Amino acid sequence: MKIAIAGTGYVGLVTGVVLAHIGHEVTCVDIDKDKIEKLKKCECPIFEPDLPELMSKNFDKLTFTTDCAKVYTTAEAIFIAVGTPEKKDGSTNLSYVYTVADQIAKYAMRDCTVVVKSTVPIGTNDKIEQYIIKNLKHNISIEVVSNPEFLSQGTAVKDMLYGSRIVIGAETVKAKSIMSEIYKNLNQPIIFTNRRSAEMIKYASNDFLALKISYINEIANLCEVLGADVEDVARGMGMDPRIGDKFLRAGIGYGGSCFPKDTKALHWLGNYHDYEMKTIKAAIEVNENQKLRLLKKARKYYESFDGLTVAMLGLTFKYNDTRN
Ligand SMILES: NC(=O)c1ccc[n+]([C@@H]2O[C@H](COP(=O)([O-])OP(=O)(O)OC[C@H]3O[C@@H](n4cnc5c(N)ncnc54)[C@H](O)[C@@H]3O)[C@@H](O)[C@H]2O)c1
Repeated sequence: MKIAIAGTGYVGLVTGVVLAHIGHEVTCVDIDKDKIEKLKKCECPIFEPDLPELMSKNFDKLTFTTDCAKVYTTAEAIFIAVGTPEKKDGSTNLSYVYTVADQIAKYAMRDCTVVVKSTVPIGTNDKIEQYIIKNLKHNISIEVVSNPEFLSQGTAVKDMLYGSRIVIGAETVKAKSIMSEIYKNLNQPIIFTNRRSAEMIKYASNDFLALKISYINEIANLCEVLGADVEDVARGMGMDPRIGDKFLRAGIGYGGSCFPKDTKALHWLGNYHDYEMKTIKAAIEVNENQKLRLLKKARKYYESFDGLTVAMLGLTFKYNDTRN
């Protein structure tokens, strides 16, 4: 299938390369000229194990460009994989997504499926579809599908090639069949649902993992006071298959590009609909306090940090990245 990808970040580039690998003709679009120049030379702009190899192996099926007009004109499916950062109040900045929606409405000249991979608040896909249809410049039919992404940075290629599930939120039989066709060469279970449920699966999954981290951090804080060893406690808990051993590592809290914004976004959305998500609120608060606890601990040893030389360990969670 002829597929366009808007955004060549972690999600867009990995998606593009994997879709080319499973047989599609893929064009990746980005507004970042330097990134596109690198990609044109088959240079990978991010560190991801296996990505450079898979990219060069499938380079004949991949095109990189900043010219979205040309690409969206003929694409059968357009994936949106641009950033959705948080705003100051915790809500989601959807301006990048709507810019792509505008471009699709303006340039698409054949019936096409718009696949939203970006993490967007529940209800956004419905609005994007209405928005594109309202602004279409040509007499075509488009449909928006929610297809949230679950990859982790550092194992992104593996996660996409051998993921635990593909979630598709589609409203029509036609959209479902197009998505089945796109993913038919990936041997993964597909969960079909409506768009809002697909959007919620993404937030509910990320926020649950964040919650798990905050939970073990609270247990760790109490362990410290009571003389228990949180690593043993986590091991003992994690061997219970109902709990699982993932995301039970106590530390200074979660960070990265998704958990902080996705917890705040769902909490904000709940409040907006007059429903306070108390568990998520607690996860966020515990996470904020956890960072300060480290500082408090350090203060026990040093009255002032002025002039101290400090070594920081663990600045990257990509264990194979030798550049840091
Ligand atoms: N990074 C992750 O681990 C991860 C995992 C799952 C889901 N997500 C979600 O996927 C989305 C993308 O995340 P990311 O980490 O890949 O973002 P990113 O910031 O790494 O990449 C976004 C890219 O989009 C480009 N862009 C912006 N406007 C554009 C436009 N109009 N046309 C074409 N390109 C444009 C930017 O230049 C950038 O290269 C977010 O919603 C994020 O929450 C991220």
